[in-house]
Amino acid sequence: MKPVIAIVGCGRVGTALAKFLSEAGYGISGLASKSFSSAKRLADLTGAGRFTTIPWEITKKADIVFLTTPDSEISDTCSNIAFNEGFKRDSVVLHCSGALPSTILSSAKSCGAFIGSMHPMQSFALNEGNESPFHGIIFAVEGDAQALHIAVKIAVDLGADCISINTEDKTLYHAAAVVASNYLVTLLSLAFRLIEHAGISGSDTWKVLKPLIKGTLLNIEKAGIPAALTGPVARGDIKTVERHIKAIGEKSPELLDLYNTLGFHTIGIAESKGTLSKKSADILKKITNRKDRKDSA
Ligand SMILES: NC(=O)c1ccc[n+]([C@@H]2O[C@H](COP(=O)([O-])OP(=O)(O)OC[C@H]3O[C@@H](n4cnc5c(N)ncnc54)[C@H](OP(=O)(O)O)[C@@H]3O)[C@@H](O)[C@H]2O)c1
Repeated sequence: MKPVIAIVGCGRVGTALAKFLSEAGYGISGLASKSFSSAKRLADLTGAGRFTTIPWEITKKADIVFLTTPDSEISDTCSNIAFNEGFKRDSVVLHCSGALPSTILSSAKSCGAFIGSMHPMQSFALNEGNESPFHGIIFAVEGDAQALHIAVKIAVDLGADCISINTEDKTLYHAAAVVASNYLVTLLSLAFRLIEHAGISGSDTWKVLKPLIKGTLLNIEKAGIPAALTGPVARGDIKTVERHIKAIGEKSPELLDLYNTLGFHTIGIAESKGTLSKKSADILKKITNRKDRKDSA
């Protein structure tokens, strides 16, 4: 029989865990959230009988407790549950933060629970759909051996995989996640704004860029970095880069800094690909790293 879980924090990640773990056969001892309405919404979605705003009412009977509040609330929430004797001895208490270590759950450990963190490398922006966001993803896990053992089982039951991470390396691991997801959004926002300045707008923007974005991701998957790099910097096409800088400086000067910074950091990748001469690399470094670039464009 599968263990019984409790979810504290019925937001995006808590909702996905409750939904897909209950589909995988886990029992739910109950759901708790800051607001009654969030807990009730998730109870309606999963068929869980108990929902509350008082976490220790539902964590006491759980074999596994997920603390899926915002990062800033995890430690205090855990301490409150521990203070109210809400953790079962030998239960496993997990949080899903990428940036914080499992040791922030030390109050649960004092109650005889095993603690760990399991961070899903996924973006949970939307709370809809029946497709599992966990399928094929990686959870980075760290903490007590007993907690890790359970975390691996949970990951497998969700159709995911696990890698272990050193507690002290979590911050950099999380920074990588932020770049790959959040800053990808920022990067694509730059592309969207430039193409809109070129007169392509509305749904056409995505239609035009999507095959290029997908093709690039596929090339990275197949050939890796730097082989996947194409375009003017990789070719050492200085004239084209200069024309870009001039056009952006005229039409959308506020975007020039980011364009130049990305160009500057692309030069090193092109050099490791071996398609850029030292001479062209030096010129490109100069034109993308000029402090007066906005004026000179
Ligand atoms: N979102 C992602 O893409 C993502 C990806 C990987 C990992 N994570 C991690 O997953 C965890 C949860 O993130 P999330 O994005 O799911 O957050 P979220 O959508 O903001 O949900 C957090 C939930 O916790 C509830 N809550 C707030 N304070 C609480 C408290 N003191 N006690 C009980 N419940 C409380 C909120 O309240 P209400 O009851 O008012 O709704 C909300 O429903 C975080 O550690 C985050 O770092 C998130």
